[in-house]
Amino acid sequence: MNVGPRTLDFTGRRVLVAGGSKGIGRCIALAFAGAGAAVSVCARGQAGLDALQADAHAQGIALHVHAGDLSRLEQIDHWLHAAADALGGIDVLVNNATGYGMADDEDGWAASLQVDLMAAVRASRLALPWLRASADACILNLSSIAAQQPRPGAAPYGATKAALSHYTTSQALALAPDRIRVNAIAPGSIAFADGLWERRRTEDPALYQATLAKIPFGRFGEPGEVADAALFLCSPLARWITGHVLNVDGGQVLMG
Ligand SMILES: NC(=O)c1ccc[n+]([C@@H]2O[C@H](COP(=O)([O-])OP(=O)(O)OC[C@H]3O[C@@H](n4cnc5c(N)ncnc54)[C@H](OP(=O)(O)O)[C@@H]3O)[C@@H](O)[C@H]2O)c1
Repeated sequence: MNVGPRTLDFTGRRVLVAGGSKGIGRCIALAFAGAGAAVSVCARGQAGLDALQADAHAQGIALHVHAGDLSRLEQIDHWLHAAADALGGIDVLVNNATGYGMADDEDGWAASLQVDLMAAVRASRLALPWLRASADACILNLSSIAAQQPRPGAAPYGATKAALSHYTTSQALALAPDRIRVNAIAPGSIAFADGLWERRRTEDPALYQATLAKIPFGRFGEPGEVADAALFLCSPLARWITGHVLNVDGGQVLMG
């Protein structure tokens, strides 16, 4: 019986985090780097990237950062080339960026479709030459339990995340011959400073309290709890897992 390597050591692996300067993506990037990976992060805002690099530096970690808008095909391509040059290739692609398009109008749909869906689709396709050259490649998409729970006021976001979850499964089949695993995480409501739920706590306290009441553990999730699942799914421990959408929600989806 081959039990395989029981490790979350990412030394020698090259990890790209799309939308990794804040919140969950930032935590995922720091977790991979802390586990030994060479990491590149893309986001639009230089200030967020500078703050991330300063934090990483304080922890004795070096990160490659790149300012770019992932809703633009040519800027995704530019980042992938810059990151692959800096890191020497790509083993893991984490598609984490979100436009948080909630409003059922042109801007809401454009934000969700261009960032949550098409940025992931395009980055996954454009990264293929490097992923195919990797000895142990995988793609991880950040979906949401919103894909499974219709809510008023979030149609573009929920529909787009449902598309991203479905895309994850079809890509898992398409890329299995290349030995590239494709999985997704569907977080529940995750709170952190300057994040969506911290803003809602003051801007929409009724929604905040109603959401909190539907989390069985009686608290919001933390970015680190999503990052731990991300490392697992991209590690050798998950080498026989592909096409899976893993809820990381403390049971929130069970409450309807
Ligand atoms: N937080 C939650 O409760 C929750 C729940 C379920 C699912 N999720 C999913 O988990 C992921 C992370 O969520 P989060 O709450 O941590 O998000 P967040 O705090 O809004 O951070 C999003 C990150 O993506 C970057 N980004 C956004 N648009 C971009 C663009 N067009 N081009 C490049 N970078 C872009 C942001 O930096 P810039 O703004 O500087 O570009 C930032 O680094 C998302 O996919 C989200 O849908 C979150």
